[in-house]
Amino acid sequence: MDKKPFYITTPIYYPSANLHIGHSYCTVATDVMARFKRLQGYDVMFLTGTDEHGQKIQDKAAEAGVTPQEFVDNIVAGIKDLWKLMNISYDRFIRTTDEYHVEAVQKMFEKMKAKGDIYKSVYKGKYCKPCESFWTETQLVDGKCPDCGRPVVDAEEEAYFFKQSKYVDQIIKLYEENPDWLQPASRAKEMMNNFIKPGLEDTCVSRTTFDWGVPVTSDPKHVVYVWLDALTNYITALGYGNEKYDDFERFWPADVHFVGKEIVRFHSILWPAMLMSLELPLPKKVYGHGWLLLEGGKMSKSKGNVVDPVFLCERYGVDTLRYFLLREFPFGSDGVFSNEALINRINADLANDLGNLVSRTVSMVEKYFDGTLPAEQTADPMDEELIQMASGLRAVYEEQMESYAFQNALIEVFKVISRANKYIDETAPWILAKDEANKPRLARVMYNLLETIRIGATLLTPFIPDSAEKIRAQIGAASELFTWESVAEYGQLPANVTVCKGAALFPRIDMKKELDFLDKHQEKQKKEAEKAAKKAEKKAKEEELANVVIAIDDFAKVSLKTAEVVACEPVKKSDKLLCLQLKLGEEKRQVVSGIAEYYKPEDLIGKTVILVANLKPAKLRGVESQGMILAADAPDGVKVIFVDGVPSGCKIR
Ligand code: MSP
Repeated sequence: MDKKPFYITTPIYYPSANLHIGHSYCTVATDVMARFKRLQGYDVMFLTGTDEHGQKIQDKAAEAGVTPQEFVDNIVAGIKDLWKLMNISYDRFIRTTDEYHVEAVQKMFEKMKAKGDIYKSVYKGKYCKPCESFWTETQLVDGKCPDCGRPVVDAEEEAYFFKQSKYVDQIIKLYEENPDWLQPASRAKEMMNNFIKPGLEDTCVSRTTFDWGVPVTSDPKHVVYVWLDALTNYITALGYGNEKYDDFERFWPADVHFVGKEIVRFHSILWPAMLMSLELPLPKKVYGHGWLLLEGGKMSKSKGNVVDPVFLCERYGVDTLRYFLLREFPFGSDGVFSNEALINRINADLANDLGNLVSRTVSMVEKYFDGTLPAEQTADPMDEELIQMASGLRAVYEEQMESYAFQNALIEVFKVISRANKYIDETAPWILAKDEANKPRLARVMYNLLETIRIGATLLTPFIPDSAEKIRAQIGAASELFTWESVAEYGQLPANVTVCKGAALFPRIDMKKELDFLDKHQEKQKKEAEKAAKKAEKKAKEEELANVVIAIDDFAKVSLKTAEVVACEPVKKSDKLLCLQLKLGEEKRQVVSGIAEYYKPEDLIGKTVILVANLKPAKLRGVESQGMILAADAPDGVKVIFVDGVPSGCKIR
């Protein structure tokens, strides 16, 4: 039978090298949903990508001294690496700089313009540069951007506008007739009351003050507003308006767009209005998930390793992190991320409940039956509760997954896992094992455990794909017994199944030791960051000074003289400093210089150097320095300027 299509998307990410664990939240959730739908037998299209245009990127590229394209190429490679590390099984990755997308955006813009839905006018208002959002005076909160709280700037320029206002009635109807179109319901209410009902204004959809964007074909001094450009990714990636792909008919409308709460507005007002203008069907659903926060506020990568997904994956494991993200927080609400919560979750659910169940069961089958269960088994009424729970698990899990309640779906699976652990205590296999006559009963107990694990682990596959596969191998289940169909019914494992013990799946973490480690680690990181910031500040100052033009009189204030090094020794307790004794004609001077990494004292003795002779004396590591010798910052290190052959004490001008 032909598979049914299922199309799911993440937002396309701004290329930032600083993606934190909050960013990966949405992508992990989308991945879990995509894997769930594949498990159910759908033909899934999972789209993600990057949103690469806009003034912010142009500014950052200029700061970094590279072209915007070079800038984004580099970062996008890093984002793809992160998704690979986190086992994100996307089917397509779109970049808004991809030619086919650019071409399609241009066509759509012209189509809407030809229809009169996009028209030229003058933009006057407020603009938030970091969010790339335009605001009217009334939308500001305390005069600042209502999304990010940062200052906005006045903006006035010739611009194209999209007649969003024309679609307000249709949008109201959409919300009223489809109360589940935007979820959770609280977000739909917020959109309706705060934005739609007060009246939709036409929105500015082009800019002329920068050029890193999609040029408007009929008026190329304008580039298309980033949100218009970005939102269309969901259809251009399927081949709408371009020849690159041919999947539009099959996959549009999308089954669901997963987006973070702060961008719900764009997806639930501007996007449907654009689609209405283009006369295209609307996505079937938009889900606005909550934010991961840190205690005391927003998450940002400057908070160090605590929120770095690469660090967290490497230290705790990819599956562990994926599980934690979806188990700890209800998908629709905000949640506070902490290392403590993560470690608690690992220990309680993964190590104690799941890991223990698998390892105890497999060990017992090995110990009591040499790894293979006998076919002769005796059931008992006390097995019924566990069997019923395991048999019914797929249905309750499915119900939760279909409503994006990932947390509840996991709770259901773990109820059965806990029940299985309790079943071990109730049946006390170690007592049964004492009497040969009980072997058929013991075999049935083991079978029930393996079968429960099989069902539970199959349903955990979307969340923890690698670990679920390891469990499958340990309990000796064939791949065909790890499918959606196979978990509809209890009793699929062959009675004489053979297990194969493997390494512990989720080692327990010592909370105190781990928190101590993290504290120290963070302290170290903070210091390194401070050092790097100081270095950057110094460099910036030097660069600034390099551009300063001074008058000859100012230069004349500096007294430069040749000086011979007569003695030199390292400064005690310092790896960097050398103390030089200099002769300037008759005069003697002592100078401390930070060149010990590059010169040994004997390299310098007898050489003639240039001294800044009228510097105010200073103490370095307690040693007085009466001036400074000149050196160059060469690519391979510091080089002292030697002027051998010139007598000491000569003035340099
Ligand atoms: N480029 C736009 C989206 C365009 S979609 C047509 C954008 N990019 S983003 O990189 O800033 O954000 C990507 C996603 O990460 C958004 O859904 C955003 O909500 C999400 N998150 C960013 N920080 C987050 C948390 N701290 N917690 C959860 N999700 C967060 O917006």
